[in-house]
Amino acid sequence: MNAREVRVELGERAYTVHIGPGALLSVPAEIRKRLGTTPRRAFVVRDSGVPAVFFDELAALLSDAELAVSSIELVPTEQSKSIATLERVLAAMASSGHSRADPVVALGGGIVGDLAGFAAASYQRGVPVVQCPTTLLAMVDASVGGKTGVNLRVANDTGDRLLKNFVGAFHQPLTVAADTRVLMSLPDRHRRAGLAECVKHAMIALGITGADLMSETRAAMPGVLAGEEDAYGRLIERSVALKGEVVRRDERESIAGLGGVRMLLNLGHTFGHAIETIPNLSPNPAYPELAPLHHGEAVGLGLLAACRCAERLGMCEPGVGDEVLGILDMIGLPSTVRDLPDTDEVRSRMGADKKAAGGKLRLVLPEGRGRCRVVTNPDETAVAAGIDAIRG
Ligand code: GLY
Repeated sequence: MNAREVRVELGERAYTVHIGPGALLSVPAEIRKRLGTTPRRAFVVRDSGVPAVFFDELAALLSDAELAVSSIELVPTEQSKSIATLERVLAAMASSGHSRADPVVALGGGIVGDLAGFAAASYQRGVPVVQCPTTLLAMVDASVGGKTGVNLRVANDTGDRLLKNFVGAFHQPLTVAADTRVLMSLPDRHRRAGLAECVKHAMIALGITGADLMSETRAAMPGVLAGEEDAYGRLIERSVALKGEVVRRDERESIAGLGGVRMLLNLGHTFGHAIETIPNLSPNPAYPELAPLHHGEAVGLGLLAACRCAERLGMCEPGVGDEVLGILDMIGLPSTVRDLPDTDEVRSRMGADKKAAGGKLRLVLPEGRGRCRVVTNPDETAVAAGIDAIRG
């Protein structure tokens, strides 16, 4: 097994991210090591999109380590990332006899990881969680750093609104096992969509660790696109190292003005979330079966919109956006959508994003290659230019 490890240095909460084919094998020993004892039970929250063979393998590994395994299967949709599903998970944990000493193990993409993590954070005021991310997005971003939570649906005079990740907790995992065998079992489109998060990390890395992840990401592309598992492993390792350093410096996402860097991980997401909330958008209108957009596809569009917005503001030179466009093209991610509604509608969806709370729009924008900063209330014509740049 070509194992790779990244440490997330958080003092007594520090943990190891295991990456590579067979990373799931590390889970029982990590549980024992981190807890100092073997617990009685484990509760696995499994994603219905993950082939059963990987759940069976994980369950067998836990049973061999003398843990009694219970589980629940969840369908990974934004609708199911709800307080109602959380209640279902907590009730299933309670009926299984789960105690405060027993870990929850999340086996799935970002939705399942966030939900299982929040169930662990809240069950009897907190039980340990192990993250076994199965999508690229979850491997390089969601599973590392302890953000957990669910969406909240609220009603007002204009109808129902889904506030994404509005309720949650910071709850660091005991360990993360990013098994690239699971990743390679996913459809190609899922893996390509996840690469948008790697591009996001590359766009901030120079300003944080000094690593030129833009060049590394480009260089990794031939191997990645040829489906070479080890090329994915290397890219995940580099991306997780960046994420781990961001989390080490700013675990709880402090305010940018106070030296916070974690907020920079929202790059592309305010534009991206706005695009994602528009029903039936497809990355290529000639292929309606590709609707709805994947989260990663919307993030890729959001990254480009952020570049074009920053260029209009004069914050960065035009080459920054062109390099990002080149990488998105190389990956095969969309850089435009043809059926985007008018600019005001997209803009109002950005205003509804929870990151705009308090009446202020805060955007993470590039100030150069590999460097970003937070801009509060950017000029509206520049925001509109960002939106219009991705209109096909
Ligand atoms: N996914 C963004 C963060 O972990 O802060």
